[in-house]
Amino acid sequence: MTLEELKPKIKSIISEENQTRDELLLKICEILEANIDYYNWVGFYFKNGDKDELKLGPYIGEPTDHIIIPFGKGICGQVAVSNQNFVVSDVAAQDNYIACSITVKAEIVIPIFVNDENIGQIDIDSNTPDPFSAADERFLEFVCTQVAALIS
Ligand code: SME
Repeated sequence: MTLEELKPKIKSIISEENQTRDELLLKICEILEANIDYYNWVGFYFKNGDKDELKLGPYIGEPTDHIIIPFGKGICGQVAVSNQNFVVSDVAAQDNYIACSITVKAEIVIPIFVNDENIGQIDIDSNTPDPFSAADERFLEFVCTQVAALIS
C-alpha cells in the first residue's frame, strides 16, 4: 500500500468506536509497520504528565528499554523541545542518539500538536539506510493530525 492509500485507512481506524485510545494507536502502529517495508519499529511517545520527559505509548517492533526519555535526550527528547520534525538519515552520525537496536540505520520523529502544544510524537526506526523523504514527513504529519483529533 502506498502512503496515499494508507491515509483513508488511518482515518477509519481513528473513527472506530468502543475502543480505547491506546488500542487505536496500536492499530495505527500495526498498519504502518505492516505496509511500509522500511518502517520497522513504529511507536508513540507522549509527554509524561507535567514532567519534562516522554513516556512510551503503544508501539510495534522490538521491545525497548527506553520507556522514559528526558526532554533533550536522544532524537525523541530533542523533538520534545524543538517542536520540529527530525529526520535522521544515518543514526551513526548522531551524537545525541539513544540506540534501541543495532539493526536500526535511520529514524524519523514527527511531533503531535494539540492546541499548539507539543504533546507527543510518532517515532519510526528503519533498518534501511536513508529511507525517509519529504513524502514520509507529509504523510506522518497527516497521521499526527489525526492522532491529535483523537486525543483532544
Ligand atoms: N532512538 C530514539 C529512542 C527511542 S527508540 O528508537 C525506540 C532516540 O534517540 O530518541
